[in-house]
Amino acid sequence: MRRPEKGSREAVLIGFMGAGKSSVGKILATRLGAEFVDVDETIEKKAGRSIREVFASFGEGAFREMEKAAVRDAVSVPGRVVAAGGGAYLDEGNRRALSGYGPVFFLDVSCESVLERLTGDRSRPLLPGEGEKMRDMIEKRRPAYRLADFTVTTDGRSVSDVAEGIIDLLANSDRPPRKAENG
Ligand code: S3P
Repeated sequence: MRRPEKGSREAVLIGFMGAGKSSVGKILATRLGAEFVDVDETIEKKAGRSIREVFASFGEGAFREMEKAAVRDAVSVPGRVVAAGGGAYLDEGNRRALSGYGPVFFLDVSCESVLERLTGDRSRPLLPGEGEKMRDMIEKRRPAYRLADFTVTTDGRSVSDVAEGIIDLLANSDRPPRKAENG
């Protein structure tokens, strides 16, 4: 198992929709003096349309291909904080690319928190409207998310608190990954 290099500026954030990957990633990047790359934003810029429109115009298959290209793009330059969309880490190739890039942090979030944070959100085409369906989707994805180096709890925590927790984990590379749960 790879350990983060002490003082490493690379970090990869994964997890379910609403886990706070983009918000935490921005703060984390600022704190580390690193560039922040949001894989979804890269897709939107390249496609010239929103994620919702990409799904509506081209379908999920095409979106996943664009996502693979955007992941490859994100990891082509060292020293970045990369936030990957909620489905990116489910793909083995993406997983390999992201895991090879830097320490991967799974921002864990409960179904209840996602409902609190994202009820009424119209920008995420795959977000289940119902609690039960969402719980199933989170549980189905969790085994892949758990392949990350670190699991970071986000429920009831502010984005800056989560970012600080990740900075601590990056700084304490002697702690064995996986056991070093935070939160
Ligand atoms: C998706 C999550 C979204 C976006 C797309 C698909 C998913 O990103 O990539 O709508 O499959 O979970 P966020 O996790 O940033 O919402």
